[in-house]
Amino acid sequence: MRLRRSTLSVPGHRESMHEKATRSHADVIMLDLEDSVPFESKVDARNLVIRSLLEKDWGNRTLTVRMNGIDTPFGYRDLLDVVEAAADRIDAIVVPKVDSPGDIHFVSRMIDGIARHLGVELAIGIEATIESARGMEQIAGIAAASPRMKTLVFGIADYSASLGARLVSISGHGENEETIYPGHRWHYAMCRIVNAARANGLLAIDAPYGHFRDNEGLARAARMSCSLGFDGKWAIHPDQIETIHAVFSPGKEDIERAGRVLAAFRMAKQQGRGAASLDGRMIDQATVRMAQQLWDQARELGMVESDPETL
Ligand code: COA
Ligand code: MG
Repeated sequence: MRLRRSTLSVPGHRESMHEKATRSHADVIMLDLEDSVPFESKVDARNLVIRSLLEKDWGNRTLTVRMNGIDTPFGYRDLLDVVEAAADRIDAIVVPKVDSPGDIHFVSRMIDGIARHLGVELAIGIEATIESARGMEQIAGIAAASPRMKTLVFGIADYSASLGARLVSISGHGENEETIYPGHRWHYAMCRIVNAARANGLLAIDAPYGHFRDNEGLARAARMSCSLGFDGKWAIHPDQIETIHAVFSPGKEDIERAGRVLAAFRMAKQQGRGAASLDGRMIDQATVRMAQQLWDQARELGMVESDPETL
């Protein structure tokens, strides 16, 4: 399991930002050819992204490229040129504005064809951004559309535009929400994404928080998506990474509790029981699964030893 807490979006036409990204602590770097790149820079951005992928030292970072939509004049060539040139440098292609399973079939089969042309196996995954009412309606089919599907991403700004929802903040996520709606406006959409992701063994990644100087607001939005089951969140600015990691990494108390749940349940099992009590609360196999997930994540982060008994 590779960490997916933060994904830093890096505009494709900004070389200095690529350089800065090579030094970032983000779990994933996404070089963007879509909405952060102006129309007149699309071709230059594509060439620059390919050069950066091939020439810069990215360490063992997870690297993705967001292509333009397949209904634009740029999308098909982004896919072709980037994958042909830098197939062994990228982990996934991020597909924006996915409206139907057919969009994923197209991207997936193009990658298959390029692999055949190159005479190699390509393990390149697909991350589908759900950012329209249509895409949301077809999410189950999209999530299951290809074995290359790895991730569903919530594209909140385009999604709210697609619904005709009021823009209450430039952040587009969690900022000033309470002034317009008593509750979490995006609860339904976010739960639907997590559910479709989990039903197909995919990751669910939340949209970025646009007010990049407001780390408190970012932490609040990240806590909400983390508690709904999202695995991580996009960032648009390097200063957001630390806050996102703090929220999406397990806390010390949570790890300690997970270790005690696992230990208590192991004991209960040895005594032939399927449920046990810990701190006055029932624990059963469902509790154990949640604890095990948290433990595995903490182990991945080097925060615990492999055996919860060592606590
Ligand atoms: N990736 C890499 N480096 C970035 C970055 C990013 N996303 N955002 C900012 N930086 C760098 C800047 O280049 C600057 O570097 P320097 O100190 O070497 O000059 C440093 O971080 C500080 O940036 P700052 O001055 O605070 O911000 P800015 O005004 O230059 O940029 C934005 C603000 C919002 C325009 C910029 O963060 C950005 O373009 N973000 C990405 C947008 C995007 O990808 N959108 C699509 C996805 S939703
Ligand atoms: Mg979008």
